[in-house]
Amino acid sequence: MKTVKDYIRTIVDFPHEGILFRDVTTLFADPRGMRMAIDQMLHPYAGQPIDKVVGLEARGFIIGGAIAHQLGTGFVPVRKKGKLPGETLSQAYTLEYGEAVVEMHTDAIQPGERVLLVDDLLATGGTAGAGIKLLERVGADIIGCAFIVDLPELGGRKVLEDMGMDVHVLCEFEGL
Ligand code: PRP
Ligand code: MG
Repeated sequence: MKTVKDYIRTIVDFPHEGILFRDVTTLFADPRGMRMAIDQMLHPYAGQPIDKVVGLEARGFIIGGAIAHQLGTGFVPVRKKGKLPGETLSQAYTLEYGEAVVEMHTDAIQPGERVLLVDDLLATGGTAGAGIKLLERVGADIIGCAFIVDLPELGGRKVLEDMGMDVHVLCEFEGL
């Protein structure tokens, strides 16, 4: 039987020469793959009280909406700078070259609300780390961070665990 990892395609030399891009669009496009990924991502959290699923733009939105629907929770987007219309909190994070900023609506989550943070892939942990900082600033109770893919060589899991997070991943890819 195929696993979640089997549905993920690797594209060589994208977006730069020498990079192996782990492409989840082939997983999302397959009905069995998509359902398997969503079911496995939410499995550790089913039955736990959760108020909101928080998804990281852009690929985290695809799975975050599906997980929120299945768990019966609300969904909150963390977006790239300048996309949200209301009052926002901003958080900068480091990219390979330079800095990026993500934002969340100030009133999207109330202090003490129990939230699950989701994204498709964990690499350096910069993006998820910025999402965690935003959630901590609004006083959320982060019950876990779930990803389809972890790239262990980039150390993101340790970054998040050092922030006190419980990290759940469905598969790992070695080689960058
Ligand atoms: C990718 C991926 C994660 C992030 C992981 O998103 O979807 O969100 O990078 O990398 P990190 O752990 O080193 O932060 P990207 O910013 O490329 O864009 P997208 O999701 O909007 O396509
Ligand atoms: Mg992303």
